[in-house]
Amino acid sequence: MFELRDRDGLGRLGRFTTSHGTVETPALLPVINPNQVIIPPKEMRAKFGAQIVITNAYIVHRAMRERALADGVHAILDFDGPVMTDSGAFQQHVYGGVEVSNEEIVAFQRDIRADVGTSLDRFSEPDHGPGRAWADIEETLARTRTAAELKGDMLLAGTVQGSLFVDLRRRCAEELSKIDVAVHAIGGVVPLMEAYRFRDLVRVIVAAKQGLRPDRPVHLFGAGHPIVFGLAALLGCDLFDSASYHKYARDGRLLFPDGTRHVEDLRQVPCECPTCSAASLGDLQKDERVRAEHNLYVSFAELRRVRQAIAEGQLWELVERRCRSHPHLLEALRELRHHNAYLERFEPLSRRGGFYFTGPETQHRPILHRYRERLQERYSTPKRYVLLLPEGPRPYASTQRDLLAAVLAKRDVHVLVKSVWGPVPIEFDEMYPIGQSLVPDVLDAESLEALEVFAQRFLRGAGYERGVLWRGEASLEDLPETGPGDFDVVHARLHAVADFQFGRGAANALFSGKVETVRSKRTGKVRTVIREGEHVLSVRAEDGMYTLKAAGAKLLHAAFSPPTLRVVVETETAEFNRQGRNAMAKFVVDADPELRPFDEVLVVDQSDALVAVGRALLNREEMLAFRRGVAVQVREGLP
Ligand code: GUN
Ligand code: ZN
Repeated sequence: MFELRDRDGLGRLGRFTTSHGTVETPALLPVINPNQVIIPPKEMRAKFGAQIVITNAYIVHRAMRERALADGVHAILDFDGPVMTDSGAFQQHVYGGVEVSNEEIVAFQRDIRADVGTSLDRFSEPDHGPGRAWADIEETLARTRTAAELKGDMLLAGTVQGSLFVDLRRRCAEELSKIDVAVHAIGGVVPLMEAYRFRDLVRVIVAAKQGLRPDRPVHLFGAGHPIVFGLAALLGCDLFDSASYHKYARDGRLLFPDGTRHVEDLRQVPCECPTCSAASLGDLQKDERVRAEHNLYVSFAELRRVRQAIAEGQLWELVERRCRSHPHLLEALRELRHHNAYLERFEPLSRRGGFYFTGPETQHRPILHRYRERLQERYSTPKRYVLLLPEGPRPYASTQRDLLAAVLAKRDVHVLVKSVWGPVPIEFDEMYPIGQSLVPDVLDAESLEALEVFAQRFLRGAGYERGVLWRGEASLEDLPETGPGDFDVVHARLHAVADFQFGRGAANALFSGKVETVRSKRTGKVRTVIREGEHVLSVRAEDGMYTLKAAGAKLLHAAFSPPTLRVVVETETAEFNRQGRNAMAKFVVDADPELRPFDEVLVVDQSDALVAVGRALLNREEMLAFRRGVAVQVREGLP
């Protein structure tokens, strides 16, 4: 069973439950070769923090079959935590064949009481053509179905194959989603990682993820180099397994989150892990075990960094940093923008902390893709003429207060900033990620060109009659003699954010009639909005977006017809939500496909009666898939 606790990008902090305990994900499963145990599993747990290990059932079957059947795999490994077993498909890649059948090896894994076992998939090589790849997929799927019949109580991992063919990967994933497996694995990617083909790796993972149901953990087979943990986690991989710590150690190589170093090339001990802190350069050069320990420390430390980054909403930042450590990783980072339509569906509404520009790649992050899309779809320009300001310090309306006042004294215009993120109507200056972002004063040519493209694309359809670039006082002469303007940025902000967050028309619904605002004494910013004496919403200081109250929810419910903003729960369970209890995913029958994680939502029953208002933790496809966990954190029930 898999439950989601927090998220960033497609990355997830989850809990994966097995009969030998619960595993926090993302998790790294060190590979234990029972024939040559360099570091025993117990030590893996005590010293490095491994919660689960993986071993190869094929090797166990060949080397110690009878003992494993009698005593179980946990006894073989001397480990009482969760154990996953692999099937031998990888040996097929390395040696060209294995001499067990799928039925045999699945039954064996079950009988040695593996917590998670793997069916015998057919490894598709990156150079296989589509015909062969599809034949291997069909065989892999047939074997997975058979394995599902044989698995007993064992959790089963079913593997996505399909070489580099994204359509085949997706179809394989869709078919696997229909089979009773607990874990989805992505296979056939070791040759890609070994050759640093990270761009292909991104394509393969995204294609697989698109076909997989979102409620099962995804294992990336053979991902053992910490350099990919962040990227793979960002794309929604939850489990990694690694023989790399041992293989690299054997070859005299040390793993680091930004690459690999050979001990022969070292003049210093370039690491602060406990082993390196106590070791000399000579120890590292002579002793395989010392190197293996280093490799494990570094791998688990990176995994913890990934988890921390998810928890603090900084996973993209971590990945952007890591992807600068190798040209082929940079290619992978630049590949991500081509998948924005998919990535955006899972991208949280906002995250904690700052939003840093780290290069032109940042401009294409899904959150900004969404910003520019919503600007086109949900924003209406308030004036006929517009003054375009260059990028500058934030929040724009505060830093440009004097300029704004001087302009409005003479002209009735709107003001828009040509930001590196895209055009920003000045009233969006406090909204995430615009208001929370930090941008260098001097930009590179690629970012400037993109900025221009974003601005032109919007301005073409925005409906302004004329736009003038601010170059100083004289620019006003290029605008028609309108007389003074009445543009009120506080009022405009209230309206623009409402439409942006909930859809066009939300502002009219929420703010018609007598509206009062309560402002923060310290910052002067609007904190709450009262309409006709009722508290309709609060403005969050962190992201400039709205938290809905019951009165606000009622207004939006009346203004928008289903499915907009709705999460529909089984009518029989709606009473709980009316009392203020969270809406559990298993009771959700439908939801607005436009909802994104952390959106404010209307919880309704099957006759569209409003029962609660709260914050969604999942998007529609996740709500419909997950049988565990909370779909909507209810803030207020409507009795
Ligand atoms: N280990 C590394 N790659 C693979 C794969 O494609 N399938 C399986 N079962 N194990 C692997
Ligand atoms: Zn070290």
